[in-house]
Amino acid sequence: MTNKDQLLYETVAKEIESQIQMGDLRVGEKIASVREQSKLFNVSINTVLQAYVLLESRGVIESRPQSGFYVSKIVTTEEVRPEADVQTKPAPILIPDLVSDLFEAAANDKYVLLGAACLSPELHPNEAVARITRSILRTHSDVNAKYEFTPGHLPLRQQIAKRLLRTGHKVSASEVTITNGALDSLHLALRAILKPGDTILIESPNYFGILQSIASLGFKVIEIPANARTGVDPDDVKRILSKYKIGAAVLMPNFNNPLGSVIPDVNKRELVKIFSKFGVPVIEDDIYGDLAFSGIRPKLLRAFDEEGIVISCSSFSKTISPGSRTGWALPGKFEKEFRRLQLSSTVGSNRLQQYVIAEFMATGAFERYLRKIRPVLQEQLHRVSQSVLKHFPEETRFTQPQGGFMLWLELPKKFDSLELYKSAAAKKISIAPGVIFSANGNYRNYLRLNCGRLWRPEIDAAIKTLGTLAKQQL
Ligand SMILES: Cc1ncc(COP(=O)(O)O)c(C=O)c1O
Repeated sequence: MTNKDQLLYETVAKEIESQIQMGDLRVGEKIASVREQSKLFNVSINTVLQAYVLLESRGVIESRPQSGFYVSKIVTTEEVRPEADVQTKPAPILIPDLVSDLFEAAANDKYVLLGAACLSPELHPNEAVARITRSILRTHSDVNAKYEFTPGHLPLRQQIAKRLLRTGHKVSASEVTITNGALDSLHLALRAILKPGDTILIESPNYFGILQSIASLGFKVIEIPANARTGVDPDDVKRILSKYKIGAAVLMPNFNNPLGSVIPDVNKRELVKIFSKFGVPVIEDDIYGDLAFSGIRPKLLRAFDEEGIVISCSSFSKTISPGSRTGWALPGKFEKEFRRLQLSSTVGSNRLQQYVIAEFMATGAFERYLRKIRPVLQEQLHRVSQSVLKHFPEETRFTQPQGGFMLWLELPKKFDSLELYKSAAAKKISIAPGVIFSANGNYRNYLRLNCGRLWRPEIDAAIKTLGTLAKQQL
């Protein structure tokens, strides 16, 4: 293949991509056949074929057997890779104190909320939850007149175990502890496992709430880069465990926030084997595990754990309701300490909320809700991706998550997302700048967009404003 050919097929690919961006070709639409396209562009059939292969490899189009090429559901540029120069020496966490701003914006209706990881309130099953709450209050008016001590309301623990069993996890209700949300589970897990001064292995980038929780307890971290599709590499983990004394690892194997990566089952199995060999417990955050667009729930890391070294943490904040502050943990062999710590801090979680969620799950409403919300989130992610493709600088790359509702963007090195964060806030648009996802100030040229808001023209306009500000900065 000559250089000239290479340039030609890239030009054709770019032209087709821009037709998609401009809306001339829509998602799911069939694109011209190779023969037609070669006439339209006045190039050889081979050149068009190469352009199609390139577009397919980027996920822009997809081929359907005996039918032709179609505009793909997810349009994207290249996969985003985290920088390689993440920190591989134990160090304290240094992140800018922006997180409270992010939550303040989340509570302010005047903002376009592309920052904090929140769904639009109307995307939660509010009516059904309100109906169940009223009914419980009618039949159990004294529900909050008693403590619900750790490990929590048995019917809720049974429902959680039942769901996990259905998705191939061997869990009994007695292993489940109800908490005040996923962050509470994570915080208790850290305290149950680690001693002051310990070092934790974390993936990078990482959810800022976990970083803050770790910082508040004074632990050090080693960050290892995660791949945007497949998460952390078992070989990287092995290398770090061989070199440093690690007290625990914290991972987000399913739909990592912000990357959206899912660790494949073979790597999950391998990771558990490695951690077990080195005697290192793992805390897994699975808050987005139920939001797989395919409807097939990826397995917990715990599914591969025979020794109880994995503590799984999750909550209903991204599905039923963030305000209920109800989560859960499977503390494995740390159960006794975990529950002891809960008794010495929050005692347990809100009793009424536990009754409501148990009932919501028992009636099958949770499954129905998940079936309804997954395609909605997939569509929102797609719309935000399309809008970024249209409005952001051409060099912008972003992820293609297959679940959850976060989009992670990479811009050229000289771009500063903290600057964008400030100029966007002045226009009442909130974003999550990349630096808050790193323990030591990496990812300045990255940002995370929350795609949990119901799509409306204001979101497209806000992304256009962000894109314009980014272009001005560059
Ligand atoms: C990855 C991750 N873990 C934990 C949490 C905290 O969840 P909760 O509100 O249940 O404490 C969040 C919230 O955004 C999150 O994104």
